[in-house]
Amino acid sequence: MIPSKMAIVRLLVCFVLYASLGHVPSSLGVILRTTDKIVWVNEFEPIELTCLIESISTNNPRIEWKKIKSGIPSYVYFQNKITGDLEHRAQLREPANILIFNASRSDTAEYRCEVAAIEDQRDFDEILISLAVRVKPVVPRCSIPESVTVGTSTELRCLENEGFPASQYHWFYNNEELPRDPKSSPRFVNFSYIINPDTGSLKFRRVKKEDAAEYYCQARNDAGYAQCSPQMMEVCDVDILGIFFKSFGGVTVAVCVFALIYSIGRLRFHNKTNNGNNYNWSPRNGAVDYGDADEGHFRHKSSFII
Ligand SMILES: *[C@@H]1O[C@H](CO)[C@@H](O)[C@H](O)[C@H]1NC(C)=O
Ligand SMILES: *[C@@H]1O[C@H](CO)[C@@H](O)[C@H](O)[C@H]1NC(C)=O
Repeated sequence: MIPSKMAIVRLLVCFVLYASLGHVPSSLGVILRTTDKIVWVNEFEPIELTCLIESISTNNPRIEWKKIKSGIPSYVYFQNKITGDLEHRAQLREPANILIFNASRSDTAEYRCEVAAIEDQRDFDEILISLAVRVKPVVPRCSIPESVTVGTSTELRCLENEGFPASQYHWFYNNEELPRDPKSSPRFVNFSYIINPDTGSLKFRRVKKEDAAEYYCQARNDAGYAQCSPQMMEVCDVDILGIFFKSFGGVTVAVCVFALIYSIGRLRFHNKTNNGNNYNWSPRNGAVDYGDADEGHFRHKSSFII
């Protein structure tokens, strides 16, 4: 009957599919496997890249390892020897694993294990493993203004470039870690700042008296952390006259005196060149120079670099 013929054909098709999908006895060829295709390790720690031989019938297969960095392959295991970048820093372990004794950041790359078994029907297999070496952050460079004026905006910055993966930045206010969102914590609910943990920026749109504190920043990643030393940020009132009198003998006085002399000079110059007619000099022109020497501006710009 036709239906039973159809059934036989279906069975045959199933068997062929089954066989072609690799469910045949595997002794016909070399097959590799690894425990991890993506491997992370901290710098200066040992790491083993696994290349397990699932099946093989050849007795002495040829084993090779290549390192592929920026698309360029180089040998790290060739003719039964560790060579190239890993020379004296690694060894081959049964069956075809590579053990790196002390990972270095330059080991971040892809590694390919290749096994050739000439006596096998399927006589070659390879497996690709990507290795990423975590690097601890170094001490970040922190830029914290020594002094800012109430109501002005200011930005504290923090950066380091060694950490891998890239560091996340955390700011500390008098040794207390500032939460990412001040509204999330009862302690800092009345604070208003913006932290960008990726760039290391801590921004104040309008500085308040309470923002005066000792600040430091910590750069963190999965390999560790590093921090800069604390630096005091003072918050001054807008009382320029007060500041002027408080800091006699300082830079302020010098700058102000210079600005005064300069604008008197300008006034005289203008009077001469204008020669009485077309007299359009206004006191506001002179005031601009005072503005540049203004205490708030001057101190605000000076930052403390560690
Ligand atoms: C690993 O290498 C670094 C620098 O190359 C060295 O300082 C460190 O002592 C080594 N660690 C071990 C466990 O050998
Ligand atoms: C925050 O401000 C409110 C209103 O000014 C005040 O009642 C509260 O005590 C403040 N909270 C803290 C933790 O300072």
